[in-house]
Amino acid sequence: MRDAAIGEILVQPDELQHRVRELGAEITRDYAGREPLLVCVLKGAVFFLSDLMRAIDLPCEVDFMAVASYGSATQSSGVVRILKDLDAVIDGRDVIIVEDIVDSGLTLQYLLRNLNARGPSSLAVCALLTKPERREVDLEPRYVGFEIANRFAIGYGLDLDERYRNLPYVAALKSP
Ligand code: IMP
Ligand code: MG
Repeated sequence: MRDAAIGEILVQPDELQHRVRELGAEITRDYAGREPLLVCVLKGAVFFLSDLMRAIDLPCEVDFMAVASYGSATQSSGVVRILKDLDAVIDGRDVIIVEDIVDSGLTLQYLLRNLNARGPSSLAVCALLTKPERREVDLEPRYVGFEIANRFAIGYGLDLDERYRNLPYVAALKSP
């Protein structure tokens, strides 16, 4: 896709594929004998989830949650509202939150608190991308695909105002 807003490519399609397979293998080892429930945070993580889940060689389930974090298009505020809650009861389950990107960490902090209160037997986070420089809370996902610099990322699920999710790579948004 040609578009003036698409800047430098941060993660190429083959790197995405390779790393997602590695994460799947790691989760397969770590959760051997268990049946994890993957909680996909809509919408950005859908693309990552569908590749990741096929790389996990265990019986596993998926459920979806949608949250809105108040703020501007490129900056979250930490005030989070649940737009769609899980269908599943997670009490006693091994839950893995699947996120597209951890930026300030505020959204994830809220999700961890909210889901922990429901009594899962374990709760871990698998994030495709993380921007450690931007972190405002002390929180590091157990599984991380790639650390990226402090740039606004688009593609492979990540959007700017709902666009660019379909790019097969992760790129930086070109600053005007
Ligand atoms: P946080 O609460 O600041 O960690 O932001 C989390 C959410 O903001 C992510 O789940 C994304 O939906 C969105 N977000 C943060 N950084 C980016 C980015 O670089 N590109 C696209 N979305 C982002
Ligand atoms: Mg998101």
